[in-house]
Amino acid sequence: MPVSATMGVMKPLLGKLATLAGDEYSKLKGVRKQASFLEKELSAMNAALEKMELMDELDPVAKDWRDRVREMSYDMDNCIDDFIRQFGGAPAKAGFIKETVRHLKTLGQRHRIADRMEELKVLALEANERRIRYKIDECNSSSSFVAIDPRMSAIYVDAAGLVGTDGPRKELVNLLTDTEKKLKVVSIVGFGGLGKTTLAKQVYDEIKGRFNCMAFLPISQKPNMTWILNRLQLKLGMHGSSSACELQDLIEDLRKHLTNNRYLIVVDDLWDQSVWNAISRAFPENDKGSRVIVTTRVEDVASGACCSHPGSIYRMNFLDEQDSKRLFYNRIYGSEDDCPSRFEDISAEILKKCGGLPLAIITISSLLASRPEMDEWEAIRNSLGTQFAINPTTEGIKSILNLSYMHLPLHLRACFLHVGMYPEDREIERDDLVRQWVAEGFINNLYGQDMEVAAKSYFNELINRSLIQPERTDHGELLSCRVHVYMI
Ligand SMILES: Nc1ncnc2c1ncn2[C@@H]1O[C@H](COP(=O)(O)OP(=O)(O)OP(=O)(O)O)[C@@H](O)[C@H]1O
Ligand SMILES: [Mg+2]
Repeated sequence: MPVSATMGVMKPLLGKLATLAGDEYSKLKGVRKQASFLEKELSAMNAALEKMELMDELDPVAKDWRDRVREMSYDMDNCIDDFIRQFGGAPAKAGFIKETVRHLKTLGQRHRIADRMEELKVLALEANERRIRYKIDECNSSSSFVAIDPRMSAIYVDAAGLVGTDGPRKELVNLLTDTEKKLKVVSIVGFGGLGKTTLAKQVYDEIKGRFNCMAFLPISQKPNMTWILNRLQLKLGMHGSSSACELQDLIEDLRKHLTNNRYLIVVDDLWDQSVWNAISRAFPENDKGSRVIVTTRVEDVASGACCSHPGSIYRMNFLDEQDSKRLFYNRIYGSEDDCPSRFEDISAEILKKCGGLPLAIITISSLLASRPEMDEWEAIRNSLGTQFAINPTTEGIKSILNLSYMHLPLHLRACFLHVGMYPEDREIERDDLVRQWVAEGFINNLYGQDMEVAAKSYFNELINRSLIQPERTDHGELLSCRVHVYMI
């Protein structure tokens, strides 16, 4: 029978105890009585363990209780197995009971078995008392609604929460708002997770008021061009105006629409020169001071986009030590100065392993934010390799982010994997997710909450863990998210 890490051998053990407590063992009164008692005690503990399996991080008391119960269940299982093995194999065997009773009588072992059971009974009683005393079943962070961590909102909702973006933002705004009348393309290039999309969004929000036609267009690695150009038309408010489905017609319609407008378009996350060649045909040269921002990880794509029109390349840098620290502490403590001094050294070690990559820093700090214990920090530090800081590779960052998934409680894993089915970087409506998670049966209503409320709480937990990123808010309420390509 498969056993899970949390449950240990509890389930098979309960089965064996039920058999020992059954009618076929009526002649073994002492053993039968003890088995029946143990079965009842263990059932209560089993229910608590089952709840724990669905729980978010357990507090140390609950963890300790779980581990002791697990150990105790192995002891009991061994004891029962010994008993069964010693007296003739499987209990279902014909004549086994009779044979066993005879052996127990003649060998005087009946008392020894009952004594051993008595010891186990005391242990079980103690464990159950501790469960009740420490309210083990109740210490579950998922039992109540989880709101978005205000330290997290401070980073996303408020642009001031971003670190080190002032300089790059100003530089880009200057590049984009000069008096040049010709269409100009500015490429932002850099390693994945450096913050190109974040920066492009900031710049876009700051300058869009100067244009009369604008769109922010995510592209992704394997784009469907027709779908993307349709999206662009929608974003530009052209819906209904075009029924074209051929690429060439879509491009023509877009050109016509944009020709008379001063437009600003962000082409986010471009991977391939050929994709740019197709999309850029939709951007007419109209001498109205129009601008296009391209973000890409690929240097050649960045220069290719700029050379078809006058333009510039902005190369993003990794965060320096100071900014890395600021982002890390802000996420964990809400402020740069609130880190307890005993956590400073280990913070520096962890930050070194994140190599100044904002995506790595925000993910690891979100993981640590709910863990106040030093040993947990040490475990996470030890799990982080040193290679990424020396030689940043996609594999390196993926292994850092994988830690976050490894620490995801079971009840959130199905929801996160479901989000992974969406195209990378696509804006995903929270309410769509909530409905789908409920319909798919991913939500537990163990605590009697409304299912959709519980699903929103799951959504917030994924945000707090930085596994999905906040996207659109309305009156302080987060309405959509996106998932970073490295996460899926
Ligand atoms: N300056 C910053 N301060 C705080 N957080 C940041 C900063 N820059 C980026 N981040 C965070 O890091 C994560 C990755 O950022 P983003 O998606 O912008 O990276 P990217 O360079 O566009 O990656 P990709 O190449 O994969 O598209 C996001 O969660 C973002 O909020
Ligand atoms: Mg991006």
